[in-house]
Amino acid sequence: MPLSRNRHHQALVDKAQQYFPGGSNGNGPLSPEHGFVIASGQGAHVYDPEGRAWLDYLLGSGPMILGHGHPEVVEAVREQLDKGTTFFFLNDKAIELAEAIVEAMPCAEQVRYTSTGSEATFFALRLARAYRGRDKILKFEGGYHGSHDYAMMSTEGTPIRPYPQPRRGSAGIPKSLENEVLIAPFNDLEQTTAIIEAHHDELAAVIVEPFQRALTPVAGFLQGVRALTDKYGLPLIFDEVVTGFRFAYGGAQEHYGVTPDLASVGKIVGGGYPLAAVVGKKEFMAPFVTPDADGMVVGQVGTLNGNPIAAAAGLATLRVLRQPGSYERLHAVGQQVREQLTATLREHGVAGQVIGDGPIFQLIFNERDSVHTYRDTLDHDTDKNRIFHDALLQNGILKSASKGYISLVHSDEDLEETAQVFDKAMAEVAKASTGGQ
Ligand SMILES: Cc1ncc(COP(=O)(O)O)c(C=O)c1O
Repeated sequence: MPLSRNRHHQALVDKAQQYFPGGSNGNGPLSPEHGFVIASGQGAHVYDPEGRAWLDYLLGSGPMILGHGHPEVVEAVREQLDKGTTFFFLNDKAIELAEAIVEAMPCAEQVRYTSTGSEATFFALRLARAYRGRDKILKFEGGYHGSHDYAMMSTEGTPIRPYPQPRRGSAGIPKSLENEVLIAPFNDLEQTTAIIEAHHDELAAVIVEPFQRALTPVAGFLQGVRALTDKYGLPLIFDEVVTGFRFAYGGAQEHYGVTPDLASVGKIVGGGYPLAAVVGKKEFMAPFVTPDADGMVVGQVGTLNGNPIAAAAGLATLRVLRQPGSYERLHAVGQQVREQLTATLREHGVAGQVIGDGPIFQLIFNERDSVHTYRDTLDHDTDKNRIFHDALLQNGILKSASKGYISLVHSDEDLEETAQVFDKAMAEVAKASTGGQ
């Protein structure tokens, strides 16, 4: 049944259609039947303009790991608001947050702020190219590093090409950039090794999501990539925009025990405000200040870099995450949700996999026994996925059609409700699979 909307709510949806191309600000169109406008969020729930609640597994696409309106974050932001909004030059909160990041992340000796994760990966790549004095980067098929030109190569949904050829993942990206990027398969160390062995003398850097989308690295993969990049003196960049402060306080590099040279962080580190950063070992951050052979340093400037309100929110978020038991809870709930969802698949006789790690989960409807590489996800039954996620929305759960994010404020009661809704939604999938028999 489509979601009913009162006049005010429908008028907002209509205005979105009028003022945004495709009715969207880029983050996915509103489902005409089940979509709603979010008017507020509190704890583990978001609310539409009519006051109806949805249990939130989207979490603003990841930043809201403490839930919405966490009192400590709100208080820190309020305090900062009285002191000023943005200054461009250094501010105390940004310096304190940089210190906290360096204390947390194994690879972080220094920090440069940006406003978005996309900018962070963009500058990490520019930095690595300057460091190595070469242009080409290697990224992994299906990996996402934001929406800039270098990042949007062979992203999810672009036509497959033989490795290591890239394919532009968006209209408007210069064709010539396909000459600057090589593509390897995440979790296939053998093929990745062959590509790096063959191209190491043209490469400037390797960038990887250590946990790619929702694919957990297989044993030895990240270690193998680290060994190869060390062997050829290539900067290794971990894109930790998603995993930073989520899988462990020190990010995926702590969780999986592999330290890169540079990393991008975003989402959680800004506490729900626009703040991200390039972090790394001093040696690899040096091109920001040390001129190259042409006498140039890496240019990087941004009006809101290290914004004090965002930094205050980030500091408060990290303070809460440091409390004992936070990561144990996040991992335990993640495990519980993945197990619940797997059980639901089996109970309803629906073929599929639940993948993920830590407080992230994703459902893949396919006939495989396991899913490790991006290509393993390509036979995902998107019709079943749509039916499942429409049913979630209809039953009061908000989740993107891909990853689900878990917060520290999802309660045991919320999880019970979730299990019931998963069951209902899977029943819909099973019904549709048997033609409604
Ligand atoms: C791994 C990864 N890198 C980079 C980005 C880009 O971050 P932003 O959306 O803040 O530009 C994202 C966004 O989801 C991401 O998941």
